[in-house]
Amino acid sequence: MTKKILTEHINVPGIETFDVYRQQGGYTAVEKALKTMTPDEIVEEVKKAGVRGRGGAGFPMGMKWSFLAKPEGVPRYLVCNADESEPGTFKDHYLMKHIPHLLIEGMIVSSFALGANKSFIYVRGELMYVIRILEKAIAEAKAKGFLGKNILGSGYDLELVVQPGGGAYICGEETALLESLEGKRGNPRNKPPFPAVKGLYQCPTVVNNVESIATTSWIINNGGDAYAAIGIGRSTGTKLISASGHMRKPGVYEIELGLPVEDFIYADEWCGGIRPGHKFKALVAGGSSVPILPANLALTLANGEKRLMSYESLSDGGFATGTMLGSGGFILFDETSCIVKNTWNFSRFYHHESCGQCSPCREGTGWMEKVLHRIEHGHGHQHDIDLLVDVSKKIEGNTICPLGDAAAWPVASAIRHFRDEFQWHIDHPTEATQPGAVYRGE
Ligand code: NAI
Ligand code: SF4
Repeated sequence: MTKKILTEHINVPGIETFDVYRQQGGYTAVEKALKTMTPDEIVEEVKKAGVRGRGGAGFPMGMKWSFLAKPEGVPRYLVCNADESEPGTFKDHYLMKHIPHLLIEGMIVSSFALGANKSFIYVRGELMYVIRILEKAIAEAKAKGFLGKNILGSGYDLELVVQPGGGAYICGEETALLESLEGKRGNPRNKPPFPAVKGLYQCPTVVNNVESIATTSWIINNGGDAYAAIGIGRSTGTKLISASGHMRKPGVYEIELGLPVEDFIYADEWCGGIRPGHKFKALVAGGSSVPILPANLALTLANGEKRLMSYESLSDGGFATGTMLGSGGFILFDETSCIVKNTWNFSRFYHHESCGQCSPCREGTGWMEKVLHRIEHGHGHQHDIDLLVDVSKKIEGNTICPLGDAAAWPVASAIRHFRDEFQWHIDHPTEATQPGAVYRGE
C-alpha cells in the first residue's frame, strides 16, 4: 500500500532540474518510446494499465486515446488540463511545482502516441510561478534534444506550449478549457461531439489531467501489466490524494488504490488521525463536487465491509455520480464543523462559478445558495429543506456540463445524511446563529 510511482523521487534535491531528473532515470521512457515502440504499441500499454482519468471522472485513459479520430491531413492535439481548481484539490500543483519534468516526459510520450506535433499545458492562471517552472523545464528539455524538431533523431517533432488559464473554475471543464485556449470566453460546449472527434480548433483532441499524463512514463518503462498489478480490481495503480481539514497531517499523499479509508485517515503514514481531542464527523472524499458522507458511512459499506480508497468502493448508491474518489480532494470534518454552513459555502462557490449558459444551473445554484443562506442565518422556513431537494433534482442531469451536478450533489447528500442538522437550524434559529454554534445531536 506504500508503492510510489509519481512521488518516488520527489524529495531528491534538485529534482526540478533536467540533470538531476535524468540522473534518477528520467526521460528513459521517451528514449524507449521513440526509438523502440510504435504509437499503437504505446496506446496498447496504456490500455493494459487500466489507468483511469485522474482529473475526477475516472474515464479509462487508454479507451479515450483509442477514440481519437484520425482524419487524413488534419492535425491532432494533446491538451493537459492543469487548471486544477476543485476545492480541496492541490495534487497537480504539487507535482508540477516539485517534479515538472515528470509531466513534460509524459507529455512527450503521450503526444507521440497520439500523433500530436503541438501540445498544450493549460495551467491555472493563478499559478504564475508554476508556469515559470514549467517553461524553464521545457527550455531545458529542448536544449537537450527531447523537444523540438527531430527528437533524439527519431524524425518526430513536438512543440510544447504552456498556456495560463482564464481564472475561472469552469475553464477546467474540458470543452470550456478548449474555448479558452482558442481565445474565447470559457463556456462549455455540448457533448457529443467529444473533443476526441472535435476538440481544439475543431480538430481531434485528447484532454488529460496532469496526474494521468505523468503516469505514462512509468507505464512505458515498466509495462501496462505491471501497472495493472498495483491497486485493486478496475482501480489500478496509485493515486495522489490532497488531504485537508481536521486531521493531524494534511498534505499530498500517493496511495495504492484499495487502501482502506480508515487506514488512510488514522495511520501515521498518511493523515495521522483526527486532530487531538476531536471526533470524526464527515468526509468529502474527492473534492467539493462529490457527495458528503457521515463518518460511519465513510469508513464502512452497507454490508459491513471496510470502505476502500477505490473508484468502486467510493460510490454512494443513490447518486448518479460515477465515483466519490473524484479528483482525490480528501476533506475531513470534525464535530466542530457545521454541515449547513459548509453546504452553503460550497453552494456559494458553484453559484459564483456557474457560466450562466443553462437555466437549471444559473438559476438553481442561485436559489440553493439563497435558501441555504437563510437557513444558516436563522431565517429558514419548514418547507426549505424539501425545496432544496427539489431544486437539486431539477438541476441534476439537466445541464450542459457537470458543474450543475457538482452543485446539486453536495446539497442533496448533506440533506440526505444530515437532515436533523438542517431541521435544528430551522427549529432553533437563535441558538443556531450564535458564534461557533454547531448541532451536536441534541
Ligand atoms: P465526463 O465523464 O463527461 O468525461 C470524462 C472524459 O471522458 C472526458 O475527457 C470526455 O471527453 C471523455 N469521454 C466520455 N465519453 C466519451 C466518448 N463516448 N467518446 C470520447 N470521449 C469520451 O467528465 P468530465 O467533465 O471530464 O469530468 C467531471 C469530473 O471532473 C467531476 O466528476 C469532478 O470530480 C472532476 N472535476 C475536477 C476538477 C479538478 O480541479 N481536478 C474540477 C472540477 C471537476
Ligand atoms: Fe454553465 Fe452551469 Fe450550464 Fe455548465 S451547467 S454550462 S457551468 S450554466
